[in-house]
Amino acid sequence: MKAIQVVGFGGPERLEGVDLDLSSPGEFEVLLEVHAAGVGFGDLLQREGAYVGGPRPPFVPGCEAAGIVRARGRGVRSLEVGQRVIAVASGGLYATHAVVAAEACAPWPLRLGANAAAALPVSALTALACLQRLARAQPGETVWIPAAVGSLGSTALQIAHCLGLRTIAFASTLAKRKLAPELGAAAVFSPDALDVAPAPDVVLDSVGGEFLRGALRRLRPWGRVVCVGCSSGRTEPIDPLQLLHHTRGVLGFHLRALLEHPGELRQLMVQILDWVGRGLLVPQVAEEYALEDAGAAQESLLDRARIGKPVLRIVP
Ligand SMILES: NC(=O)c1ccc[n+]([C@@H]2O[C@H](COP(=O)([O-])OP(=O)(O)OC[C@H]3O[C@@H](n4cnc5c(N)ncnc54)[C@H](OP(=O)(O)O)[C@@H]3O)[C@@H](O)[C@H]2O)c1
Repeated sequence: MKAIQVVGFGGPERLEGVDLDLSSPGEFEVLLEVHAAGVGFGDLLQREGAYVGGPRPPFVPGCEAAGIVRARGRGVRSLEVGQRVIAVASGGLYATHAVVAAEACAPWPLRLGANAAAALPVSALTALACLQRLARAQPGETVWIPAAVGSLGSTALQIAHCLGLRTIAFASTLAKRKLAPELGAAAVFSPDALDVAPAPDVVLDSVGGEFLRGALRRLRPWGRVVCVGCSSGRTEPIDPLQLLHHTRGVLGFHLRALLEHPGELRQLMVQILDWVGRGLLVPQVAEEYALEDAGAAQESLLDRARIGKPVLRIVP
């Protein structure tokens, strides 16, 4: 099988195409023929060595894909050989084939082509877990979504709309701000305008730095910030005394928690697939790249004009 490996921390030149032996699935695993793989900001940070607790080279990146089950372990009852699935994993999906846990697979939604299906699971699981399970956002509450037409943001906007939340979107370019209302944003602002945007009950923070500082300044009493990422490259110290004086909470989420609790993952996925099936949730795809162009796909994440998620298209 062909795969892209990070051979050392650094720039896109540290990604190399390799031929690896095809492994057999373990008892509760399946062998996936990968048709398309999502490219996330976390993949870029892992390659750069900037991802806290990330893998050490050499490793094959890639945490989500759409593909076909080509073999299954003896203990797998929920999936058939030949079935089209979407999958999440802690890595290994920038490849023509990958072994993944059967519990981390779900049916490939009929409505979606390979690129959109591959772009769905990480962003949708993250957004729904954060808004519904961690922040326990209630209909009518105001939620701030930064980088609102990026991969996570564009999915979170649609999911927040499905949950009956009032979404305040932030995006850095005019073209991106024009798109946000079509994805369910009630109002849209530049990230420079945190002080004039309506104050939030809930914040889904994927950016950190200035954005997180502004969110903490503006958060309403009883408000919750869920930290999922740090695209700005800057973190912000959290003062517990400020939290208690203003009755506010800060939470964190990592997808790993769902891989370790597949029952939760399944429940969230049932809801996500229902919204996709009803046309209420449509993954936004940026550009499609060949597997060997994984470096360019990752670098495209730094382009602030980008809308949606880049994908690697492996089987046309
Ligand atoms: N915890 C988890 O399990 C989990 C799961 C999924 C994603 N994440 C994290 O969530 C974040 C978003 O990931 P994503 O793949 O969906 O990426 P993305 O949001 O599509 O791309 C990053 C966006 O961040 C904004 N940004 C702000 N400051 C930036 C800077 N200095 N450089 C580049 N971009 C900057 C940009 O939007 P504007 O130009 O509009 O500001 C950019 O489009 C990442 O930090 C990722 O690691 C975490």
